[in-house]
Amino acid sequence: MSTISPDRSTSEIKSVLHEERIFPPPEDFARSAHIRSMEEYERLYAESLNSPETFWARMAEKLHWFTRWHTVLEWNLPHARWFVGGTLNASYNCVDRHLNSWRRNKAAIIWEGEPGEVRTLTYQQLYREVCRFANVLKRMGISRGDRVAIYMPMVPELPIAMLACARIGATHSVVFGGFSAEALRDRINDARCKLVVTADGGWRRGSEVRLKAAVDEALQQTPSVERCIVVRRTGSPVRMEPGRDFWWHELVETVDDHCPPEELDSEHPLYILYTSGTTGKPKGILHTTGGYLLQTALTTEWVFDLRDEDIYWCTADIGWVTGHSYVVYGPLANGATVLMYEGAPNYPEPDRFWELIERHRVTIFYTAPTAIRSFIRWGEQWPLKHDLSSLRLLGSVGEPINPEAWMWYREVIGKGRCPIVDTWWQTETGAIMISPLPGATPTKPGSATRPLPGVEADIRTKDGRSVGPNEGGYLVITRPWPSMMRTIWGDDERYRKQYWSEIEGVYFTGDGARRDEDGYYWVMGRVDDVINVSGHRLGTAEVESALVSHEAVAEAAVVGRPDEIKGSAIVAFVTLEAGRTPSEELREELKRHVVKEIGALARPDEIRFTDALPKTRSGKIMRRLLRELAASGVVRGDTTTLEDFSVLEKLRMEEE
Ligand code: WTA
Repeated sequence: MSTISPDRSTSEIKSVLHEERIFPPPEDFARSAHIRSMEEYERLYAESLNSPETFWARMAEKLHWFTRWHTVLEWNLPHARWFVGGTLNASYNCVDRHLNSWRRNKAAIIWEGEPGEVRTLTYQQLYREVCRFANVLKRMGISRGDRVAIYMPMVPELPIAMLACARIGATHSVVFGGFSAEALRDRINDARCKLVVTADGGWRRGSEVRLKAAVDEALQQTPSVERCIVVRRTGSPVRMEPGRDFWWHELVETVDDHCPPEELDSEHPLYILYTSGTTGKPKGILHTTGGYLLQTALTTEWVFDLRDEDIYWCTADIGWVTGHSYVVYGPLANGATVLMYEGAPNYPEPDRFWELIERHRVTIFYTAPTAIRSFIRWGEQWPLKHDLSSLRLLGSVGEPINPEAWMWYREVIGKGRCPIVDTWWQTETGAIMISPLPGATPTKPGSATRPLPGVEADIRTKDGRSVGPNEGGYLVITRPWPSMMRTIWGDDERYRKQYWSEIEGVYFTGDGARRDEDGYYWVMGRVDDVINVSGHRLGTAEVESALVSHEAVAEAAVVGRPDEIKGSAIVAFVTLEAGRTPSEELREELKRHVVKEIGALARPDEIRFTDALPKTRSGKIMRRLLRELAASGVVRGDTTTLEDFSVLEKLRMEEE
């Protein structure tokens, strides 16, 4: 497999977008919001940077602590410890705390399955389920510090399992249900999980995703796993291995309804979540308890201007960070009512989301630009069929939102009434970092606007120089924040190298951006070899490594090609082993192979066979050339470092 050569220089980060429209916050919003004006924002922001410890200490009152911390922050670049000496429990904060008020009988989770069944769990009911499953985990030999893999469809048992882990101090590692058995196996092994929680299957666009079958395959090569707990969701037959596999519904029958929450250190590992980087191996991003919970809770309240009456719906799958922070921890820590939906947005018809919003009277709706672009393509007749008047706030996350999609979202879904919060953040940042505050910040379509209080961002060149207004550069964060990742599980060196050494002394996001004359941030997307496919992060190296694991493939280079709906489409340039000939069958076989190795989300949109890949004299694949070729069929940039010009010529010809 090839090594990675980030060959984009800052001079290439140019933005051509010029957006003049500005939308002030609606007046009624500004009147009653948590943060009501830019003056108030500026005041908070200044305080947060001038006296960070006082600021964060005051904010931390939002959580319930068993023991108060003695030191707000210990910062030893790149390692942070927040609220040192404090003890708390995330599950207690998300559940128990709401039981001694009227919220006890408030809906915590309103769940709808794809086939249409609805289940509602009040906070009291959620408490009981979480406690019972926590007791099950204990009985299965799980205790503080153990890792538990969770591979589930979007059913209430998923957040219940996460909160049960948090309750007893086990560290969960949720693996998105769309990942393959191989991907699951690698993640289980990296974290050495002792137990797997799964389901027989889940529903997606009318068909069953057979999760237990994938688990069976994965568990053939996972020495650390002792047991597996299976939720009955679809009812289809599954193999249950005696002594290893147990049904959830049977186990919870025989345990107690109460389980005291463990008093955990503020820095106790809450979860590991794998995300793509620039090498083939996914990184286990580690988040801990106190700082993470505080910043997700706080940003949920600020950015979504959360109120007790809200029906809040974040459409992300819990298998991604957005689901962790803004379906589970942030909203539940605030005692919110969360809507959770199992299936596809276009099942049975392309108006399923709008129908859900109408029927459940959703007030806050948070989704991804790729979804919005699909809605646009499906046509506005679908949302127009429904009463969306309950909506009061719209959010966007996962990739840059193009101004056209932003305007459509505002007009067709928000009827011009609802503020839009375009929230920039990452798996690594844990919580929203740059975003409008809906009652305060005037918005510009396509800009995530300003950093939230406590967040100090900047745009820098590779050598660390801060650039001027509208000049492109690397987006960095210049001081630690509570919900920041703590390390890469099992690879602290990689953590230091990838995040804190690219630009001396600051956190490197991997995104290119510019800041305009009003201090608004315009994020342009990744500058490394990570591509954003339908709002999902994929390392091109992961797809390459899957491709070269096929016996027919000698070398592969994968790049993103701008795509109207998906953001990026996956284009793979492949050279074959001697004796193999390109064919349509092989092309399909390679696509299937990638799906098997990673999952359907990584399926290449296009595979191009070639005799050779363009390389520099030092042997690095010149991805920039391939990107240009994939996008427009021509190469305009500098090719002086190219080792063999004929390769490029051939690639061009192959295209024609
Ligand atoms: C991109 C998802 C522009 C960005 C929460 C980032 C965005 C990566 C935005 C993280 C946004 C996320 N505007 N780009 N509002 N939100 N991104 O880890 O490239 O899955 O680095 O976290 O998504 O993706 P991740």
